[in-house]
Amino acid sequence: MKKTLLITGGIGYIGSHGVVAFETAWYETVIVDNLCNSSIQTLYGMEAILGYRPKFYEGDIRNTELLTQIFESHTFDGVIHFAGLKAVGESCEQPLLYHDNNVKGSLELFKCMQRYQVKKIVFSSSATVYHPGNLIPFTEESRVGGTTNPYGTTKLILEQMLEDLALHAGFQVMNLRYFNPVGAHESGKIWENPQGIPNNLLPYILKVWGGELPQVSVFGDDYDTIDGTGVRDYIDVVDLIAGHVRAYERMDDSRWKFTSYNLGVGRGISVLEMISLVEKVVGKKIPYIITERRRGDIGEVYCSPEKARGELGWKSETSIETSLKNSWNYYVANS
Ligand SMILES: NC(=O)c1ccc[n+]([C@@H]2O[C@H](COP(=O)([O-])OP(=O)(O)OC[C@H]3O[C@@H](n4cnc5c(N)ncnc54)[C@H](O)[C@@H]3O)[C@@H](O)[C@H]2O)c1
Repeated sequence: MKKTLLITGGIGYIGSHGVVAFETAWYETVIVDNLCNSSIQTLYGMEAILGYRPKFYEGDIRNTELLTQIFESHTFDGVIHFAGLKAVGESCEQPLLYHDNNVKGSLELFKCMQRYQVKKIVFSSSATVYHPGNLIPFTEESRVGGTTNPYGTTKLILEQMLEDLALHAGFQVMNLRYFNPVGAHESGKIWENPQGIPNNLLPYILKVWGGELPQVSVFGDDYDTIDGTGVRDYIDVVDLIAGHVRAYERMDDSRWKFTSYNLGVGRGISVLEMISLVEKVVGKKIPYIITERRRGDIGEVYCSPEKARGELGWKSETSIETSLKNSWNYYVANS
């Protein structure tokens, strides 16, 4: 019999790729999403890929009544928890919004999971939990804390909450620390579809290419990096999600309690390098200006993905060029 998973934030960028991957891997998925940073069109995109529409509840994970209704209506084997706000800059402007949405929302979810004895969870954590003073590459043993923005703090709080639940309440937790997801499903039917001006670099660059935005703002060119601009570890979203399926399957063995994995490529690309890579894909110059550093950002971040390779048998396989082409295909087909 198929196992059923609750996918929070399943209409979002990474979540929608998660729904497609888990459905394809023979799971049944049930989505809850309040569409605060996504569009219902993504549900139709998933339907076009799968040939049927996944089950979807529109609503907020802070709404206990809604969660209760969902947990009453389905027997879940586990939860893949993507729902959350993710904009570093916005989190510095509105820390309480981030704590309310990410921490309170997750707390309501975990309470409901406990009440219904659903104890397996894959959690979307982030590279932002690592202390900025660490040497790179970050490993899972690198120091956490000293977060530079409230978004990262909410992820760290949730990691600690989940570790407590694993140690003291029988939860099994796969804590996945993402680096910078890019790319899209090869069908061109789902991608990052944020409300308003994108916070992530690639959708921003493509909107500039498409004439929706005038130029890319490069936040700082005085970091201690190859060309002074921020360096990040860009991981293809389809590869990233393959790591979730591997991680979920590992929890069939109840000895897995709480484990953190870095999901990244293990190599950094600067903002200017990224712009140049996109220019090669789209065959056009992308205008940009250098602006001030963005609050909460740090210069260079990339990981060692060796633990995930060794223990989950997972590694990134898609080239950055292919990721960029898939994103561009989506953008061209949908704009
Ligand atoms: N994209 C990245 O760069 C990145 C990096 C590291 C970690 N993450 C984490 O991965 C997860 C997914 O990120 P994404 O890039 O797909 O973001 P996204 O904004 O595209 O998706 C998140 C989804 O969650 C929904 N959501 C937010 N708050 C909700 C709430 N209270 N109730 C119900 N739905 C809610 C949004 O509407 C959206 O559809 C997030 O938790 C994010 O913090 C993302």
